[in-house]
Amino acid sequence: QPVETFDLVIFGGTGDLALRKLLPALYHRYADGQIPDDSRIIGIAREGLDDEGYRDNLRAVLKKNGNGKVEDFLKLVGYRSLDARKDDGWDDFATLMGKDAERIRVFYLSTSPDLFVDICNRLGKYELNKGKSRVVLEKPIGHDLKSANQINDDVGRFFDESQTFRIDHYLGKETVQNLLALRFGNALFEPLWNAEHIDHVQVTVAETLGVGQRAGYYDHAGALRDMVQNHILQLVCMLAMEPPSSLAPDAVRDEKLKVLRSLKPITEANAAQLTVRGQYRAGSAEGQAVPGYLDELKDHKSNTETFVAVKAEIANWRWAGVPFYLRTGKRLPERVSEITVVFKAVPHSIFDASAGPLAQNRLVLRLQPDEDIKLWLTIKHPGPGGLRLRHVPLDMSFAEAFGVQQPDAYERLLLDVVRGNPTLFMRRDEVEAAWRWADPILAAWADSGEAPRPYTSGTWGPSAAVALIERDGRTWNEDSE
Ligand code: BG6
Repeated sequence: QPVETFDLVIFGGTGDLALRKLLPALYHRYADGQIPDDSRIIGIAREGLDDEGYRDNLRAVLKKNGNGKVEDFLKLVGYRSLDARKDDGWDDFATLMGKDAERIRVFYLSTSPDLFVDICNRLGKYELNKGKSRVVLEKPIGHDLKSANQINDDVGRFFDESQTFRIDHYLGKETVQNLLALRFGNALFEPLWNAEHIDHVQVTVAETLGVGQRAGYYDHAGALRDMVQNHILQLVCMLAMEPPSSLAPDAVRDEKLKVLRSLKPITEANAAQLTVRGQYRAGSAEGQAVPGYLDELKDHKSNTETFVAVKAEIANWRWAGVPFYLRTGKRLPERVSEITVVFKAVPHSIFDASAGPLAQNRLVLRLQPDEDIKLWLTIKHPGPGGLRLRHVPLDMSFAEAFGVQQPDAYERLLLDVVRGNPTLFMRRDEVEAAWRWADPILAAWADSGEAPRPYTSGTWGPSAAVALIERDGRTWNEDSE
């Protein structure tokens, strides 16, 4: 179904995110017939480009997709050179946007957060925040609770909460939505979805990339702020929330908020037991030798973590005593993101020891690189030879089952903004609750003054991360094949 005609303005239009993710996502939706031809997409940045120059940049990116609709799509695309802190060009830009309050206008702020308030100020001055205008805020929303509040207050002076879409692209990933379908579209899982039947949960978001060009941003953030405070906690929310009464935006977000507010605090007293920080050293990535973080940064003193593992807990009736082991890092051996739910062992084995060990059931939801769901079950090894047990996956690979390439997360989310559907976006109180949990961890690390533990690029982080889970008699999920 095509969406209503819209204008989408990307501040930070020449940036990596815009060119690598946002514009290709819009192109794919256009090529699929979902974006009307009288919509407009306008890139904004300080660079002195014109419409043609911008289209040329974009053409080079989109041609890789090799689909015949690139030229038609480029007709929708324009560019304006603007500086949020200078007056030049804003009158023209306002004229270009026009005054039609019925037209959907989306302002995507893909810039450093310290420009948000200047941009919103200008949009307010030209009354571009009125009518069906929406603003999209790219993460990170702040650096801690205080700065997040400041950003939300600043933006809130010009855009209501209902107009504000805080994007977390992990919520647009197909498997995350499948988690909703799996939990609430089947009668099978929900009765088992609690501390009585679930032993523990793992979330791994592993990347092979280093920080590369983004070192400037990354060194001020680190893995906890960059990945855990937002993406990983959002995955935890979707997995752990109570069934919402419907998919209405606030029904879902109310339940997610309760999860965030139930996270057990990690403070100075227990941070050393419950968290591990790492920083990559030289090593290899996808068969190539790669430099260490400090060499990439050209600063041999940074204490920023590029890996983090956390043992989290949700203090409520459903989850009391169930550890959520979370880990993420750069320069790990493979790019893989998955959620593993490990069920409790059977209470008593009727099989003799020669049948082999009785493994625990596991549900593995893989987000990337390929999307699938595996339910690991114990069965009898086929054929004669007695009752030998095997642990095998009931496997549902989406590519095999549906034979289509899954859309990128941004495709879904950008059109949700146009439709005005905020279900998969973070409400202000969610962002705040997530910071309330993250801030004391960051403070504990800062106070301890300890450097992150080094790990060789191409390994699964510091050995302390393995110890974090093995201490509890458990292991990180490794059967990713
Ligand atoms: C971004 C982080 O939000 O997510 C990056 O800032 C990270 O550091 C990226 O690489 C991972 O996204 P994806 O979709 O490739 O898993």
